[in-house]
Amino acid sequence: MSVVCVTLSRNVLAIRNSGMMVMVRYAQTAAAPAPEPKIKKFQIYRWDPDSAGDKPRMQTYEIDLNSCGPMVLDALIKIKNEIDPTLTFRRSCREGICGSCAMNINGGNTLACLNKIDTNINKPTKIYPLPHMYVVKDLVPDMSNFYAQYKSIEPYLKKKDEAQEGKEQYFQSVEDRQKLDGLYECILCACCSTSCPSYWWNGDKYLGPAVLMQAYRWMIDSRDEFTEERLSKLQDPFSLYRCHTIMNCTKTCPKGLNPGKAIAEIKKMMATYKEKKAAAS
Ligand code: SF4
Ligand code: SF4
Ligand code: FES
Repeated sequence: MSVVCVTLSRNVLAIRNSGMMVMVRYAQTAAAPAPEPKIKKFQIYRWDPDSAGDKPRMQTYEIDLNSCGPMVLDALIKIKNEIDPTLTFRRSCREGICGSCAMNINGGNTLACLNKIDTNINKPTKIYPLPHMYVVKDLVPDMSNFYAQYKSIEPYLKKKDEAQEGKEQYFQSVEDRQKLDGLYECILCACCSTSCPSYWWNGDKYLGPAVLMQAYRWMIDSRDEFTEERLSKLQDPFSLYRCHTIMNCTKTCPKGLNPGKAIAEIKKMMATYKEKKAAAS
């Protein structure tokens, strides 16, 4: 059996096999000319407490965007892999699920893995750690207070009769389950809390939007039996009432959630709770 190939024109080949003629169009494989370099500057906050006398400073790195992924996290990883292995930041999932790459990029709190690099090469991208947090190193904030506050709201289902625990499923109607939409998706990245002026000034006593939204998530869970106790714990002037509805939190949330609204809902529930308590006394 003989196969004959004939080039008919640019990108078209005729193949004759056992008397049949087939025409095949093929892609040009000649190497494309190298693209113009697109050098973008990244100015990044650096501070290493382990290096004696080191003071916080901004360090500039240059990256060719032609050989970099599209997101700010891609640029950070490229810098760490190819230019400066000492650059320190948190990341894990690279798809907006773990919350660990939260940082301040060009003035806004967001997730580096969901934030596209601004391709304007005349404008440097400025990256800082989340604002008003203690810094562990470079872009890594100390999240200890945030996690302690989260723990303080007891973010899990609580039942009065613990003897029944684990015996059967706690069912929930479709409507009750829907009430948790827009709340359960929170990834605790802390972008909202660290954008809130009230949290900046009173972060030790005010719980902040992320933690309050999770408190609300458990208050309205139809299966939870500790709603009143949860409200009672927030009655002091700081835990909840430092929120002044400035709404920075909702504006910045990279998951499109609305912690400001959740706080407003807790305040409404609190008013009813206080009235009920006053009537009972
Ligand atoms: S509400 Fe949004 S910004 Fe706040 S912690 Fe949750 S995901 Fe992050
Ligand atoms: S609405 Fe409340 S929690 Fe959100 S930024 Fe404003 S003061 Fe902070
Ligand atoms: S790496 Fe997980 S949210 Fe960005």
